[in-house]
Amino acid sequence: MRKILHMQRIIFLMLGCGGLLMLSGCQGENSRLDQQLKDERTVVLGFAQVGAESSWRLSNTQSIKEAASAEGMQLMYINAEQKQDNQIKAIRSFIAYQVDAILLSPVIETGWENVLNEAKLADIPVILTDREIKTEQPDLYRCFVGSDFHKEGKMAGEFLKKKFKGYKEEINIVELYGTIGSSPAEGRSRGFKEVIKENPNFRVICSRSGDFMHSKGKEIMKDILDEYQDIDVLYSHNDSMTLGAIEAMEEVGIRPGKDIIIITIDGEQKIIDALKQGKVNCVIECNPKLGDTIVDLTKRLLKGENIPRTVFVEDMVFTEWDDLSLIAPRGY
Ligand code: AHR
Repeated sequence: MRKILHMQRIIFLMLGCGGLLMLSGCQGENSRLDQQLKDERTVVLGFAQVGAESSWRLSNTQSIKEAASAEGMQLMYINAEQKQDNQIKAIRSFIAYQVDAILLSPVIETGWENVLNEAKLADIPVILTDREIKTEQPDLYRCFVGSDFHKEGKMAGEFLKKKFKGYKEEINIVELYGTIGSSPAEGRSRGFKEVIKENPNFRVICSRSGDFMHSKGKEIMKDILDEYQDIDVLYSHNDSMTLGAIEAMEEVGIRPGKDIIIITIDGEQKIIDALKQGKVNCVIECNPKLGDTIVDLTKRLLKGENIPRTVFVEDMVFTEWDDLSLIAPRGY
């Protein structure tokens, strides 16, 4: 049976190079075929990635590719360009190809039932990486590995409470929202608001989506600066949008980190540099290096071991009050 599946995969590969694999390019497919011909037991993983919208994402992709390759696993990688439809198509192709497991970082939380039921029927386990889904059917995936976004939002709120301890004046907050309907944006917004509602003088005066992208963060911040004169705080759901927003502020003579207090999430090197320059006040880390944990869990799952349902990675907080010389180079 295993041999038949193996032959089917090879035929699929030969036929499919013009279709699914166009999404990620056909580079390396010959070597993949060679490897499969040599070793029919090579584990094949399908990875439906969100896109390439941020430095965080590039580092996350690299981490998963490196971890799979270190274990000798084949990775069919799809960059879905932030579109759920592309991820659904990719998953259907992974099913047709009969991969051993599917790694899915869902762009948004809802709308996965049909395709994940198809994976379930095909007996292909699904591991959610980085982002979560909302579903009434818990058996649609085996495990989630990533950050606790709700906790990240709460940590952002805690910083703000500390920063403005004792203030009675109104504090006007602008929220740069990530992708609408995505688990990081929803969790970060909810956690933040839960904490700041304890201070009645904290007001979110404007919340707009920059889709986690630098260019949109800049564009939206420009519009917001035109519309609102009195902004005290920017809470941004990721560093890419924050770096764009900082550019927008500086272009009109606003001093980021001083005239407007900035809280951001991810912790990439450029934002740590900005923290050191006093342009950012608080950075909540979101660790993109999920590859080793995901590959280890996948191996255990394929061996038939029980694996945990949820694995949250540890995230740190860096603030203007810390000894910033102690922060190790970030590598992303
Ligand atoms: O899902 C994680 C978020 O997605 C990261 O914070 C962001 O940079 C990325 O685009």
